[in-house]
Amino acid sequence: MKLKDLKKDFISKLAITYPNEEILSIFKILCKDYLNVSPTKLLLAGEELINKKQADMFSKAIIRLLNEEPIQYILKTTSFYGLEFICTPSALIPRSETEELVDWIIKSERNKISILDIGTGTGCISVSLANHNSFEVDALDVSSSALDLAKQNAKINKVDVNFIEADIFEYKSNKKYDLIVSNPPYVRNLEKKKMQNNVLNFEPELALFVEDDDPLVFYRAILKFAHNTLVEKGKIYFEINECLYTEMKALLISNGYVDIWLKKDFFGKYRFISGIKADS
Ligand SMILES: C[S@@+](CC[C@H](N)C(=O)[O-])C[C@H]1O[C@@H](n2cnc3c(N)ncnc32)[C@H](O)[C@@H]1O
Repeated sequence: MKLKDLKKDFISKLAITYPNEEILSIFKILCKDYLNVSPTKLLLAGEELINKKQADMFSKAIIRLLNEEPIQYILKTTSFYGLEFICTPSALIPRSETEELVDWIIKSERNKISILDIGTGTGCISVSLANHNSFEVDALDVSSSALDLAKQNAKINKVDVNFIEADIFEYKSNKKYDLIVSNPPYVRNLEKKKMQNNVLNFEPELALFVEDDDPLVFYRAILKFAHNTLVEKGKIYFEINECLYTEMKALLISNGYVDIWLKKDFFGKYRFISGIKADS
């Protein structure tokens, strides 16, 4: 089979589920991963022959894509802030918005500070921070399978992160941190109907959802934890639900934080907030 015929077959089989642009973008990603054909070479590679094993890999991917499984889980990898991360359904797929949070911290903070990442998932925040500047990074998650994945991601990216398996609603520590960062679960159940099947059917519920009547429950627990563990004038950074930025700002103020910044993401939504713990 020629590559151009494989492409035709790929597009026609996926057309019922995905828009054409998305199919072409997935095809490019698979060609790079399965055939080692880069997107630029792909334009000239139509006559190239595909062997049976390679064609089978595409057939298997088509079945999974028709089932709306995210491409990152099919390939078991994704890139985040210039690094490769292994991705499995044990943890949320790292989002581009979260790269903006990491970038904000790296560009705003001095070197050699101690950081705790709460709800680390794949380790995308903690590993990226540990890879930049001379940050000393701890990372916590309640999910042992997510932590196993985060440990693998720290290893393949050759960074040191101290991982802690704990529930933030119960965890106590004597350690003091200069900065606490978290992208905790913040999607209300009422927002489920706006979400795509690839998220709802494959990504872990534990990483995503909170009760409609108490959507800031994780932020409150983290601020309570930070009361003893964040140094005076220490910084807090959160990724937030874009619908709840007013409530988040009020929460930081009521917990004694000052110099509060709300920041929009690439899509123009208030997605991040930071604050400084005031002197007591
Ligand atoms: C939105 S995900 C964020 C994952 C990763 N930091 C990222 O930005 O892609 C939230 C994470 O919080 C973790 N989590 C949920 N409940 C928790 C709890 N009670 N204590 C600690 N971590 C928790 C989940 O396992 C999940 O990995």
